[in-house]
Amino acid sequence: MEKMSEYAETIEIYCIDSWEGGLEHKENWNMDTVEQVFEHNMRLAIQQFPRTTLFKCKGYSHPKMMELLVEGKKGYFDFVYVDGSHEAPDVLLDALLAHQLVRVGGVIAFDDYLWSPKSWNEADHYLLVKPAVDSYVNTYQRKVSVIQSLPTYQLYVVKIAE
Ligand SMILES: C[S@@+](CC[C@H](N)C(=O)[O-])C[C@H]1O[C@@H](n2cnc3c(N)ncnc32)[C@H](O)[C@@H]1O
Repeated sequence: MEKMSEYAETIEIYCIDSWEGGLEHKENWNMDTVEQVFEHNMRLAIQQFPRTTLFKCKGYSHPKMMELLVEGKKGYFDFVYVDGSHEAPDVLLDALLAHQLVRVGGVIAFDDYLWSPKSWNEADHYLLVKPAVDSYVNTYQRKVSVIQSLPTYQLYVVKIAE
């Protein structure tokens, strides 16, 4: 937010999360506590950056992103950070919907691009972020440009065409 407020008078942030956890959270995380911490952090952030509006969108990413599109927010966002479900089919649709929501010239970031719950030589590709992101980037090769020279654990792309 601090960085964003250097570039814009007012900031809107939409946070979509089911607060149910992904497969990687099922055993060790209390997602009610995670949601309470989020609420707490939201209150602090609004106090510190009063020109920021934060929207908490509780639910699954696909319907929530579709709702934003139905509301007319196609090309509305400067930046979309994808860090929800790590199952490849979920990530693939997150990527396609993010492409619709971000403006030309905007950035989509994929966290955990190189995450794997198992070592890479025994990884189950269904449970990886990378194959889904690669599929999006390869298919949209004339519409996105990968930002090079960044650490590769995450992947950042610029949308260059609808
Ligand atoms: C790896 S955590 C990241 C959370 C947050 N981005 C952060 O860095 O603190 C993944 C989050 O995605 C949420 N999640 C998992 N599958 C989801 C889905 N299909 N739709 C929305 N949220 C989902 C989980 O509840 C969890 O909070």
